[in-house]
Amino acid sequence: MTTVLEWPGKAQAFALGRRLVDGQSHPHLGDGPHLRLGDGGGPYVPAPRENLLVVGDNLPALTALLATHRQRVKVVYIDPPYNTGNAHTYKDHGHDHASWLNFMTPRLLLARELMRDDGVLFLHLDDQESAWAQLLGHEIFGEDNSLGTLIHQRAKGGGNAPSFVRGHDYVHVWGRDASRVGPFLTEKKSPAKLEVIDGHRMLVETDVLRAGFGRYARGSERRLMYEDILAVKGAKKLAEVDAKLDSGEYILRPWGKAGKHAVVRVTPAEKASSKMYSIIKALGGQNDLEPLGLGGVFSYPKPVELVKALVASQTFFDPEAIVLDFFAGSGTTAQAVMAANERDSGSRSFVLVQTPEPLRSKNARAVVAAQDGRAGDGAGAASGGAGSGAGGGSRGAASGGGDGNAEFPTISELTAERIRRAADVHSPGLPFTRLDVVEGE
Ligand SMILES: C[S@@+](CC[C@H](N)C(=O)[O-])C[C@H]1O[C@@H](n2cnc3c(N)ncnc32)[C@H](O)[C@@H]1O
Repeated sequence: MTTVLEWPGKAQAFALGRRLVDGQSHPHLGDGPHLRLGDGGGPYVPAPRENLLVVGDNLPALTALLATHRQRVKVVYIDPPYNTGNAHTYKDHGHDHASWLNFMTPRLLLARELMRDDGVLFLHLDDQESAWAQLLGHEIFGEDNSLGTLIHQRAKGGGNAPSFVRGHDYVHVWGRDASRVGPFLTEKKSPAKLEVIDGHRMLVETDVLRAGFGRYARGSERRLMYEDILAVKGAKKLAEVDAKLDSGEYILRPWGKAGKHAVVRVTPAEKASSKMYSIIKALGGQNDLEPLGLGGVFSYPKPVELVKALVASQTFFDPEAIVLDFFAGSGTTAQAVMAANERDSGSRSFVLVQTPEPLRSKNARAVVAAQDGRAGDGAGAASGGAGSGAGGGSRGAASGGGDGNAEFPTISELTAERIRRAADVHSPGLPFTRLDVVEGE
């Protein structure tokens, strides 16, 4: 027996999603939604591996992306809102599961279509929609393609919840085809570095041999150089090291000014990983935003560490993968992708989608005021990409309409600013392209 959820509007929501999935096949054909460069630029067809921030509703945005990204996305991470875009329609009804499911259904169908066969989708939720979302996901992906649910431990405690203190969220995971999805991996040893040596990704440890135990003067070399092994540790140790050099477990690397060599352990990356644990502890996304000067601007940013772990788990051996987040918010996913790339010199790319709704927060206003002060100085190392919108100027959506929001910037504007600032830290000069969605007729 198969049990499926029923709710008012379900048939129409699935029909809409299927129509959108089938409809768009070429960027210049038909009058479906398409993309254009931000700030009033012309039509634009992005390269699949370009970093993108698409500004607009994710329903037309995902539809437009089908033209270039169908079956290309390896990882989707989403943290959707609980009160959906239908605020006006459903405002008086309190929380309404049906409207949430109707909102999510076509978007998840489109996301699935953008995924590679071995692609995975992480759906991050708190209690409120978790159970409903899980059944919806089973229906969209097929229950056989469920890979399980992770727990994100996000708080240590506190609060005055009516029943118990909730310190966790859920991350439901599906594969487009679960049988094609490899294990979810995590690094075994985080201090070591990943390098590509002779075309192979290797974990590199440069301090396997120490000159001695105990204290070292500050700044003094702790490593025992190959040339000194015999004198310091004796012939037996030297023979041991030579054997490992022969087997390839160690290599020698020129080190320091004395013309000597460090003994370096190299481990194939696949041997340096272990399977991810289902409970992931990562506190406070605000802590990531504060160093970027964006503390208190967004309400509930997710931690970079969490999203980085999720992204890395499925791109451990795929450092050129495309990562999609169509509820971008503060842009955590973009920073997580940069951090994952920084770790292994990868070139994963991100595609983010965010509506240009006004962000009613004083801090947000202050950030944009400061940004305007900088405008014209070519600010923003990350703005090298075509149309990435350096220096603001994309405020029209919130400020032009005489809707009483004139003084507030849009969320998407701040997403762009976060991407620029994160790039300054992780990947100076990283290009990204800001696009707008033009809805079809
Ligand atoms: C819960 S937040 C995501 C937070 C994000 N994970 C972070 O770490 O900052 C959900 C975001 O989705 C955006 N959003 C809601 N409906 C949307 C839609 N239809 N299209 C695009 N973005 C939407 C909201 O504006 C909000 O910024």
